[in-house]
Amino acid sequence: MITTTGLTKVYQSRDREVTALDGVDLHVREGEVYGVIGQSGAGKSSLIRCVNLLERPTSGTVTVAGQDLTALAGRGRRAGAELRRARTRIGMVFQHFNLLDSRTVLDNVELPLEILGVSGQARTRKAKELLDLVGLAEKAKSYPGQLSGGQKQRVGIARALAGDPQVLLSDEATSALDPETTRSILQLLRDLNQQLGLTVLLITHEMDVVKTVCDSAALMQRGRIVESGTVGELLATPGSELAHELFPVGGTASGPDRTVVDVTFHGESASRPVISQLSRTYNIDISILGAAMDTVGGKQIGRMRIELPGRFEENVVPIGFLREQGLQAEVVDGDPAPKTPAGAPAATAGPAGTTAVPEQTAPPVKEAAK
Ligand SMILES: Nc1ncnc2c1ncn2[C@@H]1O[C@H](COP(=O)(O)OP(=O)(O)OP(=O)(O)O)[C@@H](O)[C@H]1O
Ligand SMILES: [Mg+2]
Repeated sequence: MITTTGLTKVYQSRDREVTALDGVDLHVREGEVYGVIGQSGAGKSSLIRCVNLLERPTSGTVTVAGQDLTALAGRGRRAGAELRRARTRIGMVFQHFNLLDSRTVLDNVELPLEILGVSGQARTRKAKELLDLVGLAEKAKSYPGQLSGGQKQRVGIARALAGDPQVLLSDEATSALDPETTRSILQLLRDLNQQLGLTVLLITHEMDVVKTVCDSAALMQRGRIVESGTVGELLATPGSELAHELFPVGGTASGPDRTVVDVTFHGESASRPVISQLSRTYNIDISILGAAMDTVGGKQIGRMRIELPGRFEENVVPIGFLREQGLQAEVVDGDPAPKTPAGAPAATAGPAGTTAVPEQTAPPVKEAAK
């Protein structure tokens, strides 16, 4: 539904150039909620502004719903009208709502319809329907100043839906809101995604947002996407930073001659008693050092850090058993040649919701299968 290839944005400011996007290949499938996460300055807002051509990319292409927007933008004034038309199919939600204070809630939602040339009664009817959809029907005659932050954002979302978009872009739509209001707005985005089949691309710096609503996610660092995929794919990628941040598990070996394994469960395997089967089959005592379980996009997903007695060589068969059961099993400690650094830093990092990934711990570029 949204594809960018080699998207680059270089800002020229007086005597210096800032490369905000450095060859971004993004692929958002139809009907999914896709989260882009990254530290301040990573290029997230630049990416979303380039996706609807509010910002003109320096190079690369943007295709939305099969239409190459960059080609339209490059073809002069006549194409300008076409680009504007294409843009009405892309709704945009802003962090600071951008409502007109002098207009009522209803009039704010009517504004884009007015611009689209929808007249009189049809316009009011449509705006009222949209307010109903976002649960604000009774506030139609209020002014933005009389609303809470969450209510203002609902108006912002209703307005973004005016052109019956197929795609909704959201730049930090919840970062000015308290946690409870954030949850209700995320739920609304999820409902709209499901009811209207809307594809949602959202930018956030909060891992909790990704966990609550996203089917897929990408991590941006210094203008590049360094990891991307469905949440399931990310969890199955050894050493994935996003996976470690989504499901941080901690705990270290209780002594020498122990093997520590991170086990990732998703889909059907999450509901099978695999650990007790492992224990019974090989007659070994298993300690659970840490675990995180959650429901992501309606599916149970989780990670567990377990400790097996004996060194890695003695545990090759039980670890093979886990993998045969369709689980991801990553040896953290006890492996003579570990695939991930022992106690991967993100696994023991701060509370979920923080995305600060120290640069020196950034792993090499990896792309999950798309
Ligand atoms: N209009 C502009 N002119 C010059 N430089 C810009 C402009 N907009 C953004 N930048 C620079 O581009 C880089 C990426 O900025 P961007 O706003 O995309 O980051 P971000 O990931 O959205 O950050 P934040 O989380 O703080 O919103 C930054 O170094 C920023 O200073
Ligand atoms: Mg930003």
